[in-house]
Amino acid sequence: MNFEYTEEQLAVRDAAREFAQAELLEGVIERDTEARFPHEQIKKMGELGFMGMMVDPKYDGGGMDSVSYVLAMEEISKIDASASVAMSVNNSLVCWGLEKYGNEQQKEKYLKPLASGELLGAFCLSEPEAGSDATSQKTSAELNGDHYILNGTKNWITNGSTASIYLVIAQTDAAKGHKGISAFIVEKESEGFVIGKKEDKLGIRGSDTHSLMFTDVKVPVENRIGEEGFGFTFAMETLNGGRIGIAAQALGIASGAYELALAYSKERKAFGKPISQHQAIQFKLADMATNIEAARLLVLKSAWLKDQGKDYAHASAMAKLYASQVAMDVTVEAVQVHGGYGFVKEYHVERLMRDAKITQIYEGTSEIQKIVISRSILR
Ligand code: CAA
Ligand code: FAD
Repeated sequence: MNFEYTEEQLAVRDAAREFAQAELLEGVIERDTEARFPHEQIKKMGELGFMGMMVDPKYDGGGMDSVSYVLAMEEISKIDASASVAMSVNNSLVCWGLEKYGNEQQKEKYLKPLASGELLGAFCLSEPEAGSDATSQKTSAELNGDHYILNGTKNWITNGSTASIYLVIAQTDAAKGHKGISAFIVEKESEGFVIGKKEDKLGIRGSDTHSLMFTDVKVPVENRIGEEGFGFTFAMETLNGGRIGIAAQALGIASGAYELALAYSKERKAFGKPISQHQAIQFKLADMATNIEAARLLVLKSAWLKDQGKDYAHASAMAKLYASQVAMDVTVEAVQVHGGYGFVKEYHVERLMRDAKITQIYEGTSEIQKIVISRSILR
């Protein structure tokens, strides 16, 4: 067993840390207040290779391993979880899904600009009445000669208005249940494709979350990913890896809040000494550090399993379940360590606390992770 990072992994982590400090920190409070997407910053992240990190260089990706990806996600998430969710969706849902299951033509046309960061992608599974219960897809895709006709509504789509390429899951044969679901690549300019309202959210306010409406949208047959009926497996396999990215996001939110609380506890004085010298604060810091380390081990283990080509579905569900709980616990305590200052925007921890909550909801709620884990244990 080896707990050391490689030099390459450390270089990626340091590059992400420097980028986050230099480019994401400034303006993060204003972007959150105004619910403004970090356009310029995401463009730079693409130029630096953060948007297609694990994609083969022959498709314009970074050719890095999942451990490097997790390290970069943690660093970006410490500062701006709205930027990191755009990064996570593009890397582990859109690029991974296309590289693993797309054909050569689809990779040339769509994966290359997505992996290089030239274009942004979105992953569209959830619907108004199909969130956790993802097999209940109502969006339909009907074959009509050399194209499909898409009708339906997708909800809560990250990168909803900023994406150019949308991976859309739809029902091609309702009688077959989840085996009648297929996956498609839809271009933003398609006629009949309308971007709906932007959600006004508790956290990750800089991320653009939209509903999407499809009315008789023509999608060429060559834009179907895999065979008809493969769409649900496509979505589930993609989410197995996506959950590693969100677990790393949760880890980053927790470690960002912990670092702020640690520094503040050494500066703030009460009763004649820094609050870090009061045992109640020391114990909070000890609990935070321990829980973050445990979460980090689960996140790294799931990334390592993926890199080794081993089964990681169960490990990624555990990593997301645990890291998201740690993100909630640590951010709440970080606000407490800051006292009244923790309750105002200037000190960042209140935003991290609001951002933490979503990690227990998207890419499968905590209850869904427990379903995935328990089914795997009992199988
Ligand atoms: N990996 C691979 N295959 C899986 C799987 C997994 N984790 N989970 C289920 N499957 C397969 C099953 O093996 C089964 O296939 P077969 O019939 O061929 O054996 C098929 O999927 C159906 O599975 P179930 O019978 O278990 O279906 P179910 O309806 O009882 O439950 C579920 C499935 C696990 C609850 C699933 O619906 C689920 O994961 N729901 C959560 C949806 C989700 O995570 N959405 C995230 C949207 S994207 C997002 O959120 C992005 C973002 O915010 C940034
Ligand atoms: P529901 O499924 O209605 O769940 C409500 C509650 O019931 C939850 O607590 C849930 O855990 C619980 N529950 C449901 N079923 C069970 C069960 N069987 N056992 C126990 N408890 C259960 N989706 C996308 O496809 N693409 C995206 O890019 C995307 N981005 C998102 C961004 C944001 C900001 C948000 C809020 C959501 C996003 N989602 C996205 C959707 C997200 O994945 C869903 O919100 C999530 O899967 C939960 O679905 P739901 O909201 O319909 O809740």
